[in-house]
Amino acid sequence: MSLSTRHLLGIKDLSIVDISLILKTAEQFKEVLQRPVKKVPSLRDVTIVNLFYENSTRTRFSFELAEKRLSADTINFAVSSSSAAKGETLLDTVRNILSMKVDMVVMRHSASGAPHFLAKHIPAAIINAGDGVNEHPTQGLLDAFSMKEKFGKLEGLKVAIIGDILHSRVAMSNIYLLNKMGAKVTVCGPPTLIPKYIRESFGVEVNYDLKETLEWCDVANVLRIQLERQNQVLFSSLREYNIAYGVKRKLLDNLNKEIVVMHPGPINRGVELDSDVADSKQSIILQQVENGVAVRMAVLYLLSNRSG
Ligand code: CP
Repeated sequence: MSLSTRHLLGIKDLSIVDISLILKTAEQFKEVLQRPVKKVPSLRDVTIVNLFYENSTRTRFSFELAEKRLSADTINFAVSSSSAAKGETLLDTVRNILSMKVDMVVMRHSASGAPHFLAKHIPAAIINAGDGVNEHPTQGLLDAFSMKEKFGKLEGLKVAIIGDILHSRVAMSNIYLLNKMGAKVTVCGPPTLIPKYIRESFGVEVNYDLKETLEWCDVANVLRIQLERQNQVLFSSLREYNIAYGVKRKLLDNLNKEIVVMHPGPINRGVELDSDVADSKQSIILQQVENGVAVRMAVLYLLSNRSG
């Protein structure tokens, strides 16, 4: 089986069949990653460039590791040490890299739509590793994989997405994916950090009360306050944000059930999530990171023309 798309630009463009295929393939690669020899020859002679115009730890290392596990040849691009710093355009940079016979491009960019623009102009497969405030599709997929691994299914699962929804590409990819797969989504945060028409536009519930939201959900996916994307004051202070919307031990202990806590990272400890929650057995944050490698292996493999 193969995906209905040549690129992974966003979850918005994927069908339910595509998502199910990626999650199923990731399960197989997760099994491979438990073996003593974790490397498979699936992408031998495929060359992939990792083009990161924005900082990253998890996504960049996870893609690099996934590529190595699949035996692909990889090259890494960091904007600060490239000719982009001398003013070269994105399109010129990519055209030059592709002339060296590169097959796939993994790209993170601060501009929403940058990977969509590239996909229109170059012949290689493009994988969006996060574009501005638009989407972060492999994060959405690895989050879904982790929830499915924990609960056995996504359908009917009650997922709360908590925090800075306004600036979050992770929130968008999670919402698209969870809606398609039949989960129930509530977003929670201060009114200034939740887009006004999100209920009508994206079919999610909105609750501004953290305690009520935690009482409702099976999973709390807590998002980072994106300090670098705030161009106006949208909440009074980090301390007050933590008091009103920080996920704390006491709040969880007062629930009559044990919910699962997720976070895409990097965490602002003591702001959106307290350390005694982030590091507790209720948290699956490091499992999310582990699952990211298998999910990215699945995406790379399925988009490589080697799968079918
Ligand atoms: N979750 C995530 O995208 O983390 P990085 O910014 O470290 O890649």
